[in-house]
Amino acid sequence: MCGIIGFTGNIPVQDILLDGLQRLEYRGYDSAGIAYFKEEQHISLRKTAGKVADLRAICDDNNSSVCGIGHTRWATHGGVSNVNAHPHRVGKVALIHNGIIENYHELIEKFHLGGKLKSETDTEVAAAVFEALYDGDPEEAIRRGVKLFKGSFAFCILFADHPGEVYAIRNVSPMVAAHCEEGSFIASDLTAFISYSNRYFIVPEYHLLKMTPDGITMASLEGETAEPEYLEVDWDVTAAQKEGYAHFMLKEINEQPEAISRTIVPRLANGLPDFTEDGIDDSFFEDCSDITIVACGTAMHAGLVGKSLLQNMFQIPVTVAIASEFRYEAPVIGEKSMVIVVSQSGETIDTLEALKLANRYTKKTLAVVNVKGSSIARESNYVLYTHAGPEIAVASTKAYTVQVATFFLLAVKLGLVTGKMTEKDARAFVDNLQRVPDVIRQILLTADDIEELTQRMTNAQNTFFIGRGLDYSLAMEGALKLKEISYIHAEAYAAGELKHGTIALISEGVPVISIANQSHVYSKVISNIREVKARGAYVILLSRDEKISDPSICDVQLRIPDLPDAFTVFPSVVILQFIAYFAAVGKGFNPDQPRNLAKSVTVE
Ligand code: F6R
Repeated sequence: MCGIIGFTGNIPVQDILLDGLQRLEYRGYDSAGIAYFKEEQHISLRKTAGKVADLRAICDDNNSSVCGIGHTRWATHGGVSNVNAHPHRVGKVALIHNGIIENYHELIEKFHLGGKLKSETDTEVAAAVFEALYDGDPEEAIRRGVKLFKGSFAFCILFADHPGEVYAIRNVSPMVAAHCEEGSFIASDLTAFISYSNRYFIVPEYHLLKMTPDGITMASLEGETAEPEYLEVDWDVTAAQKEGYAHFMLKEINEQPEAISRTIVPRLANGLPDFTEDGIDDSFFEDCSDITIVACGTAMHAGLVGKSLLQNMFQIPVTVAIASEFRYEAPVIGEKSMVIVVSQSGETIDTLEALKLANRYTKKTLAVVNVKGSSIARESNYVLYTHAGPEIAVASTKAYTVQVATFFLLAVKLGLVTGKMTEKDARAFVDNLQRVPDVIRQILLTADDIEELTQRMTNAQNTFFIGRGLDYSLAMEGALKLKEISYIHAEAYAAGELKHGTIALISEGVPVISIANQSHVYSKVISNIREVKARGAYVILLSRDEKISDPSICDVQLRIPDLPDAFTVFPSVVILQFIAYFAAVGKGFNPDQPRNLAKSVTVE
């Protein structure tokens, strides 16, 4: 949440900041601003409520500054306004912030700031505290300041009498940095400066960075120097651009076949899953009493698919927990429990805290994470990286399918290690998994048909997604996707549960997206569909049937390729993603930047 970028070097900073903010906009897009050294000892600000494009419009065309900071905001304290936009400047200090300073009220009193602040933000309080503590030594002021702050923060700070220098420090909220030919960069994530460097390091917590055009120095709060540990990614700037697609979401839906192949193929040896390269040997899967999967949102929905697979195939007790609940409950985890946390960003604060809690009870913690070196990846005892590449659209698509694919691999491994799956069955399972990218390609080719057949969704007020078993997990994901980008009210229901109350909401023309791909409950779901149809629902059916025996049960059928039950989740979810996408676009919304949301939820 909130995107931040800083640069000092030998090329003009303004375009670096604006282009970087454009790429970070998925982290927040209600206001944006930059600060830079205009001349010796003078910091200039440009900021505005609105998007990065609005900021660009008020920037100076002839800005030759080579040092500055920029921010795109997701409002926490204080509404969306010009004055609340970052950077905030107090005296000689100008700063940008991602996170929340929880004790800002106390600090207002302690530093007698009442009546002196211009904005309603906790960030301006932090700037005022640094200014009050500043006597010409930026590092000293920052060290003293951060010791007073409670909460999470990633700060980039300029001091007017230190031109050419950017200072940064963080607690919890993520930041990465790099020094390269053009100068020194820092940002919330690598997408902001990937066009300059694919090497970067994670800024360690409570380490103070001093960035100059010549390099970056880093020291702990006690003044001990630390060396950056550089990482490298194998994607480039094109992965963070739309490349001709109308939206990032559409691009990312289309990238799913390759993302799945990248995630599964390197982990197959002789046709079977092998996690040796990930540092996970078979002993990790031995002697496992139960599994808890912890995550938020779409990642949690991927966990629900994982649960259905693991529990039904091997009768191991599996619980799926919402991270924000789990972290405040007394966990039922023993030494033999496996805890799998799932996160695209690797920075979701609730998931991270849930993982820290789980680490106290078991050594078997495994993170399924997309972002290399992220906080969750570092905190977990074991990591399986998904290889979706950067996911820019706020609504998660490709990250979900690679998480699900990872659960399929884990299922086979667990089955083999525990002797609950024969090698023959395991090979057949993996063969089907390897077919998935091509199956998704077939669905991608039918996008126009899906758009046409589901046009009705655009005008819907209320919708329902129903299914049983694995399809119920998918229904939850389909409903979330539709809600978050098209703002159409959607509810997911276990098909058999509808008649215990919710069926009262079904009336003439209400769309019910029905998924019927699990053979053992197929006839049951069909009966449930009949029940809603009889009450006037407009039924969109996702099923493998070549010819539905009673066509009157649905208004539209979207055909799923013929695959074994479990594997139908992949083509089905792609259809659900398209339904949401086309509904949002049909209503004139930008699916990449849904209202009130931001990618990477680093506040509670
Ligand atoms: C929905 C969506 C969110 C995320 C959730 C967890 O489309 O993207 O629900 O799945 O915020 O984020 P990560 O996976 O980064 O932990």
